This record gives sequence, structure tokens and C-alpha cells, in this order.
Amino acid sequence: MTTMKDVAKRAGVSVTTVSHVINETRFVSDELQRRVFDAMEELHYRPNILARSLRRGETRTIGLIVPDNSNPFFAEVARTVEDIGFENGYSVILCNTDGDLEKEKVYIDVLIAKQVDGAVFIAAGSRQEHLSELTAQGLPVVVVDRDIPQTLADVVLVNNEQGGYEATRHLIELGHQRIGCIAGPSELTPSAARIHGYRRALEENDLPYREELIISGDFRYDGGETTMEKLLSLSAPPTAVFVCNDIMAIGALRAIKRAQMQVPADLSIIGFDNIPITSATSPALTTVAQPITELGVRSMNLLLSRIRNTRPSGDYERIILETELTIRDSCAEPC
Ligand code: RIB
Repeated sequence: MTTMKDVAKRAGVSVTTVSHVINETRFVSDELQRRVFDAMEELHYRPNILARSLRRGETRTIGLIVPDNSNPFFAEVARTVEDIGFENGYSVILCNTDGDLEKEKVYIDVLIAKQVDGAVFIAAGSRQEHLSELTAQGLPVVVVDRDIPQTLADVVLVNNEQGGYEATRHLIELGHQRIGCIAGPSELTPSAARIHGYRRALEENDLPYREELIISGDFRYDGGETTMEKLLSLSAPPTAVFVCNDIMAIGALRAIKRAQMQVPADLSIIGFDNIPITSATSPALTTVAQPITELGVRSMNLLLSRIRNTRPSGDYERIILETELTIRDSCAEPC
């Protein structure tokens, strides 16, 4: 493999000069720089990133931990994180935990071993220990989407409770009184907050909270389908359903169709996230839009400022972004 020594010989300069050119650690004349770069090109030389990282004390890499990168919500967040990382000279290591705490622990260890410069952390659960393993290494971390009781990192969330409230209030304003809810995993803060909003809308309109109308799903397509089947099999099924994420709502549409029912004529349905496909479902899904791109932008801006030490350590931010009810074609007055 070509070494710095080979480059120095080809350029007719010292190895030290080659090092200063590569690492920009001292002024080198344009003429000598050109000779070094020409030699690197001719010899197909690539600097040893690991050696440079050790010298600089940085790897120019960022870890991104997500629970399910096949879900377009997380894919959209990852896209924004990668865009901003690339613009700022950082590579992003994507870690998909599949919502599994054991796998999350493996990836925490991987990111520490690879000495990433910082991490965006969307937790598989809501426990602090994995987060504290990252911060104990002095690693800047931004907690996104799933809240964790902690004082170790900046946090960027959305107002899930208000989103659940507005979705349910919309159905009530259409005249629905038996409103079901397909929840996400109960241990995850976003789903729990959305259900709080659902309950608040019912209580404000003197509608009873019926346990049989709330079923927990898994935030996945099949889970939406099977939980909707359960709601439709009730002796008194709901006339409308608030689903705590779009992927489950799309799965629920399949169960409704298999039951030979029409949306919204026979049943109204609202999702949560506003992933791109929701404008193309049949009918187009009414949903609670999360500001997904802004989630990624605010998270990365916070993380980069921590990595660059342009923020005093300790006074962590807690940013709560607002959702927006996006009305399309999947809701109507009860038949
Ligand atoms: O669709 C995945 C869900 O998990 C989203 O609602 C997001 O908020 C995350 O918590």
C-alpha cells in the first residue's frame, strides 16, 4: 500500500511536508502543495483516516440510533441527519436496534469503540442506562422522539399529547362517539402521550373512555392489521379509529378492506406521523403530521454545537415541536 514516504519521494519533499499538507498543520507553499497533491493522485494515495483521527482526537463520524429504519418516519429522520452531517464533513453510522434493548446495547458499545464524535439517539425503550453509557464517555448525545427521564443530554420531541388530542377532537367534531384507538408499544413515551391526548378529548366532550376500544399495537404494519381486526370483531365496533402511527394505520386499512367495509363511509381512520405514502393511500390518510425534517435539523444543530463546544456543557435544551392535523380523505361523519 502506498505510504506517505512514497508520496514524499515522488513529490521531492520531506515526509514532514507531506504530513503538513494533508493535516493542514503548518503553512506550505502553493508549489509544494501542488507537488504533494499530484504525487498523491499519481500514486492513488489515501491518508490513513484512523491515524489522523487519533492525532486530531476526532473521527468526524456521528452515530444515529433508530428503532426501525424500515419505518419511513425514521428513514426521513435519518435522511436529514445524514444530509446535515455530510454538509458539515461528518459520516453517519446508522444503527438499527429493531426496538430491541439488547441490540441497542451492542450498538452503544460499537459507537463507543468507533469513537464517534457524537450521537443522535432514538431509544428502543425509555430507560436511561444506555444513554448514560454514551454520555459517561463524554460523548455529546441528543435524545430524539422518545423521551427518557434524564439530565444528561439535549432533547428534541414533538407535542404528542396535543397531536393525539387534535386527532380525536377532529373525529368528535365529525359526530363520532365510539372512537377506537390503536396504540403503539405501551412502554414508549410517544404512544402513551398520544393516548393521554385521546382521553383528554373524550373527557372534554363528556364521552366515556372505554377500555375495550383501546388496543396496543407494535408500530408495525402487521400490528395495525391485526389490532384493527380485533376492533372490528367487537360486538359494538367503533365508528372511527385513531391510530398512533401511519404504518399501523395503513395495515388497518387492509383489515377494513378485507372486512368489505369502506373508508370513510363505514369507518373513519386517522394516523400519526405523516410519512409520504399517506397522501397516496386509498383513500388518502388523514393524519397528525410530525415536523420530521425539523426534528432532524434541530437535533443535528444541537449535536454539532455540542461537538464544537459552542454551548456550555450542562445546560441541556428540551425542545418540543408542534404537530399539525393534516386532513385528507379518510374521515367523514358517522354513517
Ligand atoms: O412510526 C414510528 C413511531 O415511533 C412514530 O410515531 C415516532 O414518533 C416513533 O416514536
